[in-house]
Amino acid sequence: MSKEVVLSGIRPTGFLHLGNYFGAMRNYVRMQDEFNCYFFVANWHALTTHPDTKELQNSVHRVIAENIACGLDPEKVALYVQSDVPEIAELYLYLNTMAYKGELEKTTTFKDKVRQQPDNVNAGLLTYPVLMAADILIHRAVKVPVGKDQEQHLEMARNFAERFNHRYGDVLPSPQAFNFGSELVKIMSLDGNGKMSKSENQMNTLFLADDDDLIRKKIMKAKTDSGPTETNSAKPDYIENIFTLLKLVSEESILNKFETDFNNCVIRYGDLKKQLAEDMVNFIKPIREKAADIQNNKTLLSKIIHQGAEKARASASATLTEVRNAMRLNY
Ligand code: TYM
Repeated sequence: MSKEVVLSGIRPTGFLHLGNYFGAMRNYVRMQDEFNCYFFVANWHALTTHPDTKELQNSVHRVIAENIACGLDPEKVALYVQSDVPEIAELYLYLNTMAYKGELEKTTTFKDKVRQQPDNVNAGLLTYPVLMAADILIHRAVKVPVGKDQEQHLEMARNFAERFNHRYGDVLPSPQAFNFGSELVKIMSLDGNGKMSKSENQMNTLFLADDDDLIRKKIMKAKTDSGPTETNSAKPDYIENIFTLLKLVSEESILNKFETDFNNCVIRYGDLKKQLAEDMVNFIKPIREKAADIQNNKTLLSKIIHQGAEKARASASATLTEVRNAMRLNY
């Protein structure tokens, strides 16, 4: 039986952080043996918010290097850069004719961007979900490992695929957001205000490139309070978030100890944060060091990127032939 196709992408718009890791990359690594995987750096998407391309190559290289440092094997998966696969742009053009202005304007991410960059509300921003659908559908992917913030985009991709099939015939499968464990993940920032993000709230986001002291410093100043006064109380969001991080990087016995302390109202947040900081340093350090080595090896990076583009273009052009046939664009 042929393996199911998996696809996901990351924008090269800043340093990758724990949200990217636990929302997306950890799943990529777990999926690489069982599925036919395509993972890419979404550099066209980055242009909708970061038109200055001076830093872009560096960022693209860093995303590739960090993915490999997290355990992705470029021999097992297609790891590529979006702009190396022009077939995506052709599918984007076709899908644009089935995406309506009203629904695009209602997309949450579009409304956020209009607020953040009122002087650059470009057509690329409006049609961002269409390009994302093209990224997915060009490989006829059915599973898309992403964090919770991408759920609405996935729903739109399903709608565009259905409209295409309805109009031209059954070519494009329906993609679903995916996470090991049933729930999609959202890692909150350390002050409990919004999600960890590449570009906002930098002192409250833990980046995979942060050095040991910076990791400690960020965690020690994470928001806490004077502790619960009643046994077995509910945790406020910002405390829940610290426990979430502890669950992700610490041993179960440590998590259990602090859970029990919390429930018995004897928790010492200073100790909790010290423990989390050390476990986080141990988690991030090997990734940071390996990523830096790969990023300095331009020959290796270039080889990986070319190899990835070749694999991705083979799959993309096969889909495009079917798409063109279905649309009777085969003269
Ligand atoms: P991007 O670059 O913002 O984020 C990359 C991945 O990380 C996840 N993520 C998070 N997960 C949990 N908690 C957080 N705080 C957090 N922050 C980010 C995102 O959900 C994502 O999985 N539009 C996409 C890139 C893209 C794409 C695609 C993804 C372009 N085409 C096709 C999948 C399929 C984006 O901006 O991701």
